[in-house]
Amino acid sequence: MNFIEWNDETMGIGIELIDTQHKELLRIINKLSLSITSNSQRQDILDIVNELVNYAQFHFNTEEELFDKLNYENSVEHKAEHVLFMEKFIALKDKITQDISYVNKSAVEISEEVFHYILNWFLNHIVGSDKKFVKLFKENNL
Ligand SMILES: [Fe+2]
Ligand SMILES: [Fe+2]
Repeated sequence: MNFIEWNDETMGIGIELIDTQHKELLRIINKLSLSITSNSQRQDILDIVNELVNYAQFHFNTEEELFDKLNYENSVEHKAEHVLFMEKFIALKDKITQDISYVNKSAVEISEEVFHYILNWFLNHIVGSDKKFVKLFKENNL
């Protein structure tokens, strides 16, 4: 499984508060990636998935509070993307614990699926949506 190194040029958006949180998100995503060995236990993976859900929610709250404070024009659609991510992610987490087809899969396969989903979402969201609020945040000295 690949370890994804933070890259300031392609992932950084130039707002320190947000970049710091994105780095922490990537750190947890990598932790998930590194936990994938043939000895992985389902519970270990779930613990990391939970850590990721909690930190993602904290990070989304940070962005959204600033959207409200600064009257960000794309606030509604951006918040909707966050909600969709949380819903999909929580559904994925439930599948790991409940769905028979997932229960029968090895922990390695499950982690790979979760990992790829999260990583793609993360990279697309940062460069696609998060970059759009940079101008406004900078104008407000963030
Ligand atoms: Fe973000
Ligand atoms: Fe965001």
